[in-house]
Amino acid sequence: MRTPTPSVYIRGLGAYAPERRLTNEEIARHVDTTDEWIRTRSGIGERRIAAPGENPSDMAVKAAEIAIARAGLTKEDIDLVICATMTPDMVIPSTACLVAAKLGLKEVPAFDVGAACSGFIYMLQVGHHMLRAGDYRNVLIVGTEKLSSFVNWQDRNTCVLFGDAAGAAVLSKCDEPYVGILGNVLGSDGSNPELLYCPAGGAARPATPETVANSEHFIRMNGKEVFKLATRVMAASCEKVLAKCGVSLDQVTCVVPHQANARIIETVAKQLNVSMDRIPINLDRYGNTSAASIPLVLEEAYREGRFKHGDYVLLVAFGAGLTWGATLIKWHDAR
Ligand code: UT7
Repeated sequence: MRTPTPSVYIRGLGAYAPERRLTNEEIARHVDTTDEWIRTRSGIGERRIAAPGENPSDMAVKAAEIAIARAGLTKEDIDLVICATMTPDMVIPSTACLVAAKLGLKEVPAFDVGAACSGFIYMLQVGHHMLRAGDYRNVLIVGTEKLSSFVNWQDRNTCVLFGDAAGAAVLSKCDEPYVGILGNVLGSDGSNPELLYCPAGGAARPATPETVANSEHFIRMNGKEVFKLATRVMAASCEKVLAKCGVSLDQVTCVVPHQANARIIETVAKQLNVSMDRIPINLDRYGNTSAASIPLVLEEAYREGRFKHGDYVLLVAFGAGLTWGATLIKWHDAR
């Protein structure tokens, strides 16, 4: 497949994780779990926890500043800011507006994407098309999450899984054909939202003393069902985007999945017949950071030289909604 110019590519990547490490052993002191259970069932060893007062917008700004510098740009070159988060600083306004303001960007359009852990894939599609439409030059996309504020630290089903972080990318245009983002597929199924949700705090169930007493402002999840659906939609999304782009999996250097559970990743790898050495993993050190997860692991894999200019990189995610999606990239380093 030939994408018409301009192509849209990731010009710079940045990531940020708070300093504080929370180990499995520490969690096991407060809830009925063990390091062994968490490692064998999820692959997670530790996660990062934001400092008190350190908000998703603050983490996003740190990741964004790195991405902008690595893109060889200054903040003034950014003309659109998109954030993906399911743990916004506040319900109103959007986190993207706060990020734009903290970056000192004046009157730049900014909005949030609500696609949970698939947020980065959704932003790639949105940013790609807004750039191609011709109205923008450089789009900042940031996945940022402070899940530690939305986790019930008494619920062992969820509290062992999540962590805080942010990951950012600058998307830009270039005239070289068939580079950067080659194709994208997205999907959703909202028919069973209770699989992974926060029962209260929205307009359907505003905060009351009862919702607070019942811990309804924290994340709840049917892990087993989410697991099954995740493995089904991730493999299918990969196959779909590859077919759409006319690229075979053998040509792909790195498959970069959402970092939720090592067993989910291994199952998808088996379904696709991809060896694990082509799949970067960092969930052992960060846990599931939702919308930050893909840029966090992508940035690390790029820094480690796991893919380079001209390589095909396949990103794939699933998350609450449910939402899912995959993006095929022909990695492009501006020279
Ligand atoms: O970004 C999307 C976010 N969500 C996900 O990715 C979640 C996908 N699902 C998963 O990752 C897995 O389903 C979990 C890691 C959440 C759970 O693994 P599982 O193998 O599906 O375990 P399970 O839920 O079937 O639980 C098995 C047992 C249960 O005990 P019983 O009923 O068999 O006696 C749980 O109560 O393990 C128990 N359990 C725990 N035990 C120790 C659940 N959580 C824990 C825990 N420590 N933290």
